[in-house]
Amino acid sequence: MAAIYDELLEATIQRLEDLESRGVRYVPVSMETLRQLMLPPKPVQIPDFKPKVEKTKAAIPVPIAEQRPLLPLPGETAVTAKPPLDPSEKSAAFAALRERAMVCVKCGHLASSRKNVVFGVGNIDAQLMFVGEAPGADEDTEGEPFVGRAGELLTKIIQAMGLPRSDVYIANILKCRPDTPGQTAGNRKPTTDEMATCIPYLHEQIDLIRPKVLVALGATAVEGLLGKTVGIMKLRGHWQTYRGTPLMPTFHPAYLLRNQAMSEKRKVWEDILDVMEKLEMPISEKQRKYFLKGSS
Ligand code: URA
Repeated sequence: MAAIYDELLEATIQRLEDLESRGVRYVPVSMETLRQLMLPPKPVQIPDFKPKVEKTKAAIPVPIAEQRPLLPLPGETAVTAKPPLDPSEKSAAFAALRERAMVCVKCGHLASSRKNVVFGVGNIDAQLMFVGEAPGADEDTEGEPFVGRAGELLTKIIQAMGLPRSDVYIANILKCRPDTPGQTAGNRKPTTDEMATCIPYLHEQIDLIRPKVLVALGATAVEGLLGKTVGIMKLRGHWQTYRGTPLMPTFHPAYLLRNQAMSEKRKVWEDILDVMEKLEMPISEKQRKYFLKGSS
């Protein structure tokens, strides 16, 4: 029952975000729905994502020589797929890409509303890369992805894997916060145009980092990377491929903040266990049991 409720809730949120991104500002609602919406929300806490974690061995960066060239993007020929770079070329190329992104004004409305371009953070030799949707207000202020409440939860997930946050790379589909004119709070989903305009930066980031595994956090990340609009409820937990690189779709941490059921945390954790297996990371018995009923 709870699972059906969660699916309906998530589907409703996705539908509303989709309508909003298409410019729809009003939807008809019944008086009863309005009454329910006006009830005070239950206090939400950032859930512990397996609190005290034993430190396991940190992931080993992929030596450049081991990096596979990514398969070409649709429309590219294999010849245009970039070959592996040596470390100094790689960091120079990454710095140059960052410089270009930091002054980007392709979306005029976002360039004028943003406080910072949120390029990405972490280890450019990471084996594991997380991709989210777009910066929120906190990220816009700090200039770093996933530093707000959803970010705190993502950090806990990474730590629960036994990794410091600095070992992985974290980026978003959009580098600028989607503007919310006339609103003092809240976020909006990026539009299709905004995503299409910004995604080349992310393609280039992935092309340079060449992670062994990508994790797409939520439906927008899946849509941006794979062009799939299949619901995240259906897709999560099922390996996909981004240009030859295994990609695990899972729920966005913001979903776990809205829905604090153990069952939902367990689903994300199972996706993460699959990722750890793919990366051949050590997994303790304790880690395997996180968020199972009856385990601590
Ligand atoms: N949500 C995202 O998708 N990305 C962020 O950086 C922060 C919140």
